[in-house]
Amino acid sequence: MTLPDFPAHLTPTLLQGRTALVSGGVSGIGLAIAQLFEASGAKVVVADISLLGGEAPQSCPVGSGWHCDVSDEASVADLAKSVAKTGNGLDILVNCAGVPQSSTAIETMTVEAWDRIMNVNVRSLFLMTKHFLAPLKASGNGAIINICSTVGVRPKAGLAAYSASKAAAIATTQALALELAKDRVRVNGINPGATETPMLSGFSHGREVQEVVGSFASQIPMGEIIRPSDVAGAALYLASDLARLVTGVTINVDGGRTV
Ligand SMILES: NC(=O)c1ccc[n+]([C@@H]2O[C@H](COP(=O)([O-])OP(=O)(O)OC[C@H]3O[C@@H](n4cnc5c(N)ncnc54)[C@H](O)[C@@H]3O)[C@@H](O)[C@H]2O)c1
Repeated sequence: MTLPDFPAHLTPTLLQGRTALVSGGVSGIGLAIAQLFEASGAKVVVADISLLGGEAPQSCPVGSGWHCDVSDEASVADLAKSVAKTGNGLDILVNCAGVPQSSTAIETMTVEAWDRIMNVNVRSLFLMTKHFLAPLKASGNGAIINICSTVGVRPKAGLAAYSASKAAAIATTQALALELAKDRVRVNGINPGATETPMLSGFSHGREVQEVVGSFASQIPMGEIIRPSDVAGAALYLASDLARLVTGVTINVDGGRTV
């Protein structure tokens, strides 16, 4: 397994013996998290809307892959049944699947577009937590990591729906951290700044990622666009015993943008 941006020796056993489910793990940040978790010893399961459905796991860039629309309760319930059948339990849930908003004036935004963003970015957190809570509790050492965004704390004009969805993701993370502390399930979030993934194109009216990277990087105090592996590093910390008593936080991985 080639791990871009990470020295191969860095974390070979941090997640040994754990099973991790990563939604949105086919692309971008989710893919980097799935790769780093597997390289750190975890069994990785990926759930993504872009994978084909079926009774057996699908071919996937990393781990075993299952089709799931995380905004749809029946689809999440099917995924939970499929994962339960593998008999590996579940220790770590990473809710990374998400959709962007192309900058939209509020008066031209449709109800359908608003609802889709809220359903994929927020309702999914409720559904995935609800349907995977039993194995996470049984783990005795459960961890949920929600990929939120810097715009959840520093919103942007034209991104009302996306900003609202990520602020809700942060509040959901905090409320669940309190609710699940007694069950030894830690719940944390990460706020990435602009990260070099296919999603950047979705924020930029379909312009090529390489065309827009420079303008995003110029807004970041450290002068660099965030790499998916930068976010994966924070996820690995939050998933591991290094963060044994860390719950209810959201870590900014943003080169100082939120300060
Ligand atoms: N790229 C950024 O600048 C940035 C910044 C902050 C936060 N984020 C957040 O990080 C997360 C990952 O984004 P990314 O940049 O890696 O994007 P990406 O487009 O590269 O990957 C998103 C993945 O989610 C999957 N997905 C979309 N809708 C789904 C659904 N309904 N059910 C299941 N899977 C679905 C896609 O198929 C894709 O594989 C998202 O939650 C996003 O909001 C991204």
